[in-house]
Amino acid sequence: MREKIFIVDDNEVSRKLVGGILKKEGYEVYAAASATEALAAIPNIMPDLVILDVMMPEMDGYQLCRRLRDRSDTARLPIIILTSLNQLEERLKAFEAGADDFIPKPFQPQEFLARVQVALRRSGFYLPTPTKTEASTIAVFSLRGGSGVSSITANTAIGLSQLWKKPVVLVDLALENGISALMLDLPLRHSWAELSKIHAEEIDSEVVYQVLLKHPSGANVLAAPRRPYEAELLNADQVKQVLTLLSQQNEYLVIDLPHNFAETTLAALDQADLILLVLSPELASVQCASIALDVFSKIGYPPEKVKLVLNWTFKGKGLPREEIEKVLQKRIEIVLPFAGDELINALTLGKPPVYEAPESALGGLFEDFAFYWSKPEHKKNPPKPYSEALIRVQKRMKARKK
Ligand SMILES: Nc1ncnc2c1ncn2[C@@H]1O[C@H](COP(=O)(O)OP(=O)(O)O)[C@@H](O)[C@H]1O
Ligand SMILES: [Mg+2]
Repeated sequence: MREKIFIVDDNEVSRKLVGGILKKEGYEVYAAASATEALAAIPNIMPDLVILDVMMPEMDGYQLCRRLRDRSDTARLPIIILTSLNQLEERLKAFEAGADDFIPKPFQPQEFLARVQVALRRSGFYLPTPTKTEASTIAVFSLRGGSGVSSITANTAIGLSQLWKKPVVLVDLALENGISALMLDLPLRHSWAELSKIHAEEIDSEVVYQVLLKHPSGANVLAAPRRPYEAELLNADQVKQVLTLLSQQNEYLVIDLPHNFAETTLAALDQADLILLVLSPELASVQCASIALDVFSKIGYPPEKVKLVLNWTFKGKGLPREEIEKVLQKRIEIVLPFAGDELINALTLGKPPVYEAPESALGGLFEDFAFYWSKPEHKKNPPKPYSEALIRVQKRMKARKK
């Protein structure tokens, strides 16, 4: 991939000169003639490096550098300041403004390129993960409590982490009574409560990473607060910002949602690539699913964004699948059988079956479930070496075909 470099310089000759040197080296070059122009363009282009001239009318390079550092989306961009003022004082000013390096003009192209390479390499080093990814965001939802949303979310998140050995975050947005951390036996050291006190624009990926809880499977958890009122301040903008940041550095986000349409819930549903609408085979649950589907269609979600998961939370007689599909006019994608006390016992102990007992029927069921919702590119072209989880999934698939 060609690295993108953004030049800001009011002098056209100088812009072309610098741009020319970089283009010859194979970099993708973008340029702006003023700070205003640069501030508008940089967040869209998201270059790998910004090179700023100091002397510019209106806003100088130092001010522009500071402005970029203040914005959460550009705070970590590597920045080099380019200037003809080769004095210690000027150099200090550049570092104070948050620049990573300083190149005095005139310069030798070789030295210039060497510094550019160093700045680019360093940037890769500083970021929590080396590549920008786009997570697949899976929201698990039901308007009716007790449908199995939290159990499914926890096992899916861990399952995905074990299948692909890629970064996964379980986001617990059941803010008033979320128990994801508890179900995974994680001490509640951090939660949404800390993020709720920070303005959306000021939340950056460093802050978010500090509040994630680490499960031994490799999955991370953004937990609900200990006390319901601790997240009262949390609004949709903060949720959007956090999900956007997490999405850039993870492969999967699995979201545990409460049984309502709070604005934080809607923010997550909007951002989701996939909504798993969970229901159990009884009348009230089907009714709740029907209401939810109606709301989703009114909001304008495409039907394929929403998938039905039928979860047998009880034993005995329930509404037949075909009946439910007829009423909801939608296909049920997956049916999860009744698991007896095994599931509730496992989760009460903080031992999700997919993690603690992947060889068991229930553990395998959730592993297959996680596989089902995986990114097509992972299913088609699994990262090597294959994980133990993936090998188990493939074995079961083969056995079913026979
Ligand atoms: N397929 C299942 N078989 C047996 N029990 C289940 C099943 N799915 C969920 N449960 C149980 O139902 C209860 C509610 O599940 P939970 O995940 O907390 O639902 P929600 O988050 O929708 O309120 C829990 O005790 C859970 O163990
Ligand atoms: Mg729940």
